[in-house]
Amino acid sequence: MSHFSYQDGVLHAESTALPKIAEAFGTPAYVYSKAALLENFAAYADACRGRDALVCYAMKANSNLAILDLLAREGAGFDIVSGGELLRVIAAGGDPNKVIFSGVGKTEAEMRLALDKGILCFNVESIPELHRLNEVAGSMGKRAPVSLRVNPNVDAKTHPYIATGLKANKFGVAFDDALDTYRTAAALPHLDVVGIDCHIGSQLLDDAPLLEALDKLIELIDTLDTEGIHLHHLDIGGGLGVDYGVAGDKAPVPVGDYLGRLFARIDAWGAGRDGGRPIKVIFEPGRSIVANTGVLVTKVEFLKPGVEKNFCIIDAAMNDMMRPTLYGAWMDMQPVVPREGEKAVYDIVGPVCESGDWLARERALAVEPGDLLAMLSAGAYGMTMASNYNTRGRAVEVMVDGEQVHVIRQRENPAELFALESMIK
Ligand code: LLP
Repeated sequence: MSHFSYQDGVLHAESTALPKIAEAFGTPAYVYSKAALLENFAAYADACRGRDALVCYAMKANSNLAILDLLAREGAGFDIVSGGELLRVIAAGGDPNKVIFSGVGKTEAEMRLALDKGILCFNVESIPELHRLNEVAGSMGKRAPVSLRVNPNVDAKTHPYIATGLKANKFGVAFDDALDTYRTAAALPHLDVVGIDCHIGSQLLDDAPLLEALDKLIELIDTLDTEGIHLHHLDIGGGLGVDYGVAGDKAPVPVGDYLGRLFARIDAWGAGRDGGRPIKVIFEPGRSIVANTGVLVTKVEFLKPGVEKNFCIIDAAMNDMMRPTLYGAWMDMQPVVPREGEKAVYDIVGPVCESGDWLARERALAVEPGDLLAMLSAGAYGMTMASNYNTRGRAVEVMVDGEQVHVIRQRENPAELFALESMIK
C-alpha cells in the first residue's frame, strides 16, 4: 500500500489527506490512487515487453470508466463477462479488438453485440455454447473467433467460492473432453478456433498451481497440433493474489516473478513446438491490478458496548463491500487518524438489518464516534459487488492523482434508486 501512507499521523492517498476527501465528498467513499493503478498495470506490461502478449484486465474486479480509460491508454485489453461490460469498455474508449469474452451463460444478444463490435475472442465454456455461437455468427454472415476454456483440474488452494479449476466447478470444458470439444468446434462452419484458455481461481498466493495449469494447456496444444488444429493464443487467466494483511498468509508472488517463470516455460516449449510455431500469451488479471489501488473510507457512527461483544457501527455496510460476509474475507481496517489511548476489541458492523452485516470482526481499536476508518485493499470486488440493499445509495468513488482529487462516480441519491420503478393503477 505504498501509495496509501500515514503522513504526520494522517492516512493519505498519494499526497491527499483522506479526511479532506471525507469532508468534501462524504462517507462511505471509495478512494483510489492513480499512481498505484498505473504501477500495478506496469508490472504486467513490463514483464510482457517485447513479447507477443496481451494483458486483458478482468474488469469485473472494478469497472469504473475512469479505471478502464487509464488502463486502455496503457494498452490494456479487457476480459468481459457480459454485454454490459463490453459497452463499458467502448464507453471508456477501449478497443473491442482487445476484448475477450468469458462466462458460462452468454446470451444470443450478447454474442451478437460482441460479434458486431469485433471482439478478439469468445472464451467458450461448453458444447451448447459452441453451437449457439456458430448459429449466431452464421446468421450475421460472420465467423466467430473461439477459444475453449479448459478446466485443467488443478487445485488452486483458495476459498471454495473463488476456486474455479476443479472438476466440481461449473466452469470450462473438462480436460478429458477437451480434445473432442476442439474437434467439434473445428468442424463448425462459422467458428475460427484460435485459442485455449483457463482460469483456475482467484487470490492465489502461490504460482505453482498456475504453472501446473500451463503445463496441461501446453500438453493439449501439442496434441491439437498433431490433429492439424493450430492455436494462435494461450490464455492463462488471472488469479494472482494480493496482500490483504491476513496474519499467517504468505506474501503474494510478485507479478514479474510469476510472468518470468511462465515465459521461461513457454520459451522452452515454444522453440520445439510444431516447427517453432509462435504463440501469443494472454493474461486476465483483475485483483492484482486494482485491489491495493483503493481504500473504503467510512465514518464511525456509534460505539455500542455489549455483554459478549463491543460493536463499532460505521456508515459503510455489507452492501458497500460484500467480501467479508460473502467469503468470510478478512479485510484490514485502520484508523485514518490513529488516536492515543486504550484500545477495545470491536466487531465493525454497518447499519443494514442483517446479522451478516459485518465488515471486520474482533479488531482492537482506539476509536470515538465521528472518527474515520479505512478498509485497505478494497479496490477489487468492492464497488462492483455493491448493491442497493436497504435503499442505500452506492458510495462515491474518487480518484486521487497527487494532490488532485477527481470524483469518478457520484454518490447515488435515493431518488435515483427508485426512478425506474412504477406503481400499478
Ligand atoms: N478470468 C476469469 C475467467 C475469471 O473468472 C476471473 C475472476 C478473473 C479472470 C480474474 O481473477 P483475479 O485476477 O481477479 O483473481 N469476488 C471474488 C472474486 C471472484 C473472482 C471471479 N473470477 C472476491 O472478491 O474474492
